[in-house]
Amino acid sequence: MHRLRHCRGLACVFSPSAQSALKLKNNIPLASCSGLVSYCWGSRSSHQGQSSYYYSSWRPRLRYVLMSLVAGTGAVVAYGLHQSERAAAAVPQTVSLPVYTQEEVMKHCSLDKGIWVTYNGDVYDITDFVAIHPGGNRILLAAGGALEPFWSLYAVHRQEHVQEILSGYKVGVLQAEDCKKQEAANLVDPYSTDPPRHPALIVNSLKPFNAEPPPGLLTDSYITPSALFFTRNHLPVPQVDPNKYRLKIEGLPSGTMSLTLNTLKSNFPKYTVIATIQCAGNRRSDMSKVKPVKGLNWGFAAIGNATWSGARLRDVLYHCGFGPEVAAKARHVQFEGLDCDVTGMPYGVSIPLNKALSEEGDVLLAYEMNGEELPADHGYPVRVIVPGVAGARNVKWLGKVVISEVESECHWQQNDYKGFSPGTNWDTVDYKSAPAIQELPVQSAITQPVDGSLVDRRMEEVNVKGYAWSGGGREVVRVDVSVDGGKTWHVAKLRDNGEDEFPAPSPQPGRAWAWKLWEIAIPLPEGAEVLEVVCKAVDSSYNTQPDSVPPIWNLRGVLCNAWHRVKVKVN
Ligand code: MTE
Repeated sequence: MHRLRHCRGLACVFSPSAQSALKLKNNIPLASCSGLVSYCWGSRSSHQGQSSYYYSSWRPRLRYVLMSLVAGTGAVVAYGLHQSERAAAAVPQTVSLPVYTQEEVMKHCSLDKGIWVTYNGDVYDITDFVAIHPGGNRILLAAGGALEPFWSLYAVHRQEHVQEILSGYKVGVLQAEDCKKQEAANLVDPYSTDPPRHPALIVNSLKPFNAEPPPGLLTDSYITPSALFFTRNHLPVPQVDPNKYRLKIEGLPSGTMSLTLNTLKSNFPKYTVIATIQCAGNRRSDMSKVKPVKGLNWGFAAIGNATWSGARLRDVLYHCGFGPEVAAKARHVQFEGLDCDVTGMPYGVSIPLNKALSEEGDVLLAYEMNGEELPADHGYPVRVIVPGVAGARNVKWLGKVVISEVESECHWQQNDYKGFSPGTNWDTVDYKSAPAIQELPVQSAITQPVDGSLVDRRMEEVNVKGYAWSGGGREVVRVDVSVDGGKTWHVAKLRDNGEDEFPAPSPQPGRAWAWKLWEIAIPLPEGAEVLEVVCKAVDSSYNTQPDSVPPIWNLRGVLCNAWHRVKVKVN
């Protein structure tokens, strides 16, 4: 990111070199334009090392900066921080801005009246920014109030870049008395009660916590140990007292039903399924190599396979009064978590009713993972397990189940976890036009050898290992592996349950919820100095993976299931 200066009155953008050029020429500091402190950010021109300045529309740049930021492009951020430090030193701080009370700020809480927010004692008019906020209109939740509680929840904002961008919208300062009140209210860190985590996890974001294990560990065991299972949290982990826990069931003729943890455990038969959960954003980093995308930069270990036990959702729904009367109208089952944002909005999504009701759907209200009570990060005390369906629909810390004619209205059902054409961009995207992701496509990845590693020529063979899985209960029937970039192929050995001598019987058709681990030793091609190792899986519907990322690239970086490739050197 490179620093530019936006002068309100002139509506112009300058590269840093242009700033110094102009300063030298006119001996006038640019900060004095329109008498307001303004903001700075990157310019492609200065990135390329050119010294020219130009007038340009700043909004697309702003959007690019934010998208890069949210996508977690570390190098960009790091460079931006460096640049901003330099520029901060260079920019004179001027200004005398109007002082507003909290009450005055609060009046600006709609697009008609303007959207004002406060941050760190300053007042900002962000009305123009709302349309291009990468997190969508959730920014409106802060309208008329302080940003701090939101930035505590979505800590990705707490970066110098974002504050610089914000500074371009500064219109005043908050009255001292109101500042003190806000400071007192902001002392609590909503993440302070998050549980301890395994140090081996590779952390994508700390607050909220998002992490994946080192990929090599995935294929060490058919069942992923709970402590190493990837974690995808959108909000702080809620503290749930098991004695006070109540699961609410709504949308049935009997009205709202309320079930205790004990009722779930003792009044319904306990079922166990082995199911793989994969985040729809798994392998997003492969997509962002093609073109930046918005989202956490997951590697290829946002996937895991565990044993889940609990009551079947269908049993609970029938027990609570589900019958033909409801079946005639209802189409969806909505879930809400007990994790809420500062406005009290819970995490929420939905699944089709027929998946929830089907005896073969195996949807569980799980209270155990790998034979023990659910860990806090994975949904204690109860989560939904929707086998074969995107991780996002497997709601943790389940608080409410609603039988409904419509899908969940929540952000994560309506404005996230949807796929788009590679041609769709942030100007043209219409979230209503795409269905919510439910069943995931066939997937596989190589966990050994590691990209960039060395293979000893004397070994004469290269050992390749990985995982393969498909959504919707479709069994993986074959994994093809190549060491020459896909020119020639070898069929890998599938390990159903990790025990070579006693492979598990094939699951019932349409109920293959668990992944397959696979491995193969492939002779080293004569004279090869570099190997491009590639894998692709085939499922029971003969679906296979696309050979490259560009045709499936999408702005949100979901559903990345192209052939997985790693390069190794032969020495
Ligand atoms: N449920 C709640 N209540 N809150 C969440 O943030 N994240 C979802 C899903 N369930 C989430 C949730 C997403 S996007 C994924 S991929 C899975 O949980 C991840 O489950 P895990 O953290 O147990 O691996």
